[in-house]
Amino acid sequence: MLAAAGSAIGLGNLWRFPYLAAQNGGGLFLAIYFALLVTFGFALLVTEVAIGRKTKSSPLIAYGKLHEKWKWIGVFAVIVPFLILPYYCAIGGWVLKYCFVFLAGQAAAASESGFFSGFITGTMEPLAFMAIFLFLTFFVVYREIDEGIEKFSKLLMPLLLLIVIGVALFSLTIRYDDGTVARTGLDGLAVYLVPNLDGLTVRDFMSVLLAAMGQLFFSISVAMGIMITYGSYFEDRGNIFKSVWQIGFFDTFVAVLAGLMTVVPIYVLMGHEGMNASGPSLLFVSMPKTFHAMGIAGTIVGAAFFVMTFFAALTSSISIMEAVVSSLMESLSISRRKAAVIESLIAFAIGAVVCFGYNLLYFELPLPNGSVGQVLDVLDYVSNGLLMPVVEIGTCLLVGWALTPDDIINEATKNGEPFRQKGMYKTMIRYVAPILLTILLLQSLGVIG
Ligand code: PFF
Repeated sequence: MLAAAGSAIGLGNLWRFPYLAAQNGGGLFLAIYFALLVTFGFALLVTEVAIGRKTKSSPLIAYGKLHEKWKWIGVFAVIVPFLILPYYCAIGGWVLKYCFVFLAGQAAAASESGFFSGFITGTMEPLAFMAIFLFLTFFVVYREIDEGIEKFSKLLMPLLLLIVIGVALFSLTIRYDDGTVARTGLDGLAVYLVPNLDGLTVRDFMSVLLAAMGQLFFSISVAMGIMITYGSYFEDRGNIFKSVWQIGFFDTFVAVLAGLMTVVPIYVLMGHEGMNASGPSLLFVSMPKTFHAMGIAGTIVGAAFFVMTFFAALTSSISIMEAVVSSLMESLSISRRKAAVIESLIAFAIGAVVCFGYNLLYFELPLPNGSVGQVLDVLDYVSNGLLMPVVEIGTCLLVGWALTPDDIINEATKNGEPFRQKGMYKTMIRYVAPILLTILLLQSLGVIG
């Protein structure tokens, strides 16, 4: 389960959660995220871990073992990490670049507007950093040295947490005053935490809900087979509920703090427009500004922050590649090494297209869900906006109707674990989750909204 937590905490918490919170108005996004987490986030986590433990198989086989007709869910579940890996490595490359920038003492330059866009619009540099990040991931998976890396990152994670807490507190002290407008860190905190319902339309609400759901799945690593894999290693006498609560709680704690340290400064320094315009670059634009505001200490804190973010990203990307590699090994009956090479070459090719999406191949593609994006956003949209809901609708229908929720409940409570929310779980899996997920999927497809 520690491995599952290491896989869960990554760029989803540090990079994706903050920019989505900023884009979706802060407080409302947070409130919806929590509501989703404690209802179907936990229900789905329990379900996936229990499916893994019950079938003792990876996703490609697990779903078929439960019910022959529902094997396809496993196939969809494996396409998700396959699509995520290339862009995850592109962002991992950005983090690596910032490690070097801060270690070289160029904190001031990095805080200037235009630094980040200058970097990603260059052709070769982002490609090179993506390739290094991907290679490191490949190397660990190829040599099967995950354990060593995990031990090392377990040491670094508490440090990362300390830095995140420290920077989050510091960001509350930032002020902006240009004579006409003044904003303080506490104003920023209010924007981040208090839902703003002024002029909110149903359409806005639904799009925040959709963003929060995609993020929830991404962050707790459900709907991509990975929790089934971890579940298959989960000991029969272990308590699934306890582990699931721990993962969910810790993952969310880190995400909320990361959001605080990123969203508050961007609001204070650039106002609501800065928040809306941020998108995937938020972490790399907002954080250097905060570190710069810290003076000399900012260089050191910034370097430490990016180095630890790098390790958090690496452990997650290893688990993403591992998910694809183990499925390739199983379905094509090939060796781990061969599978790792094949997957890495494909990820490199797609990753290169992601990097070129900000320069050579730049386009502004309107997506069916109403947003506009580059290659990275398209991959993110297909995996998080389309495939993940499909996987989870399938899982709910399988567990709720083709089987019975009791099959899962019995697995999760087989050591006599008390499960007080049994009724809620059943209603959730049979009715609420599939209906809500279908509405969200239709909205994502642009059919409604
Ligand atoms: N949950 C990880 C994060 O928040 O960064 C990302 C992730 C890990 C996605 C493992 C997919 C996966 F298989």
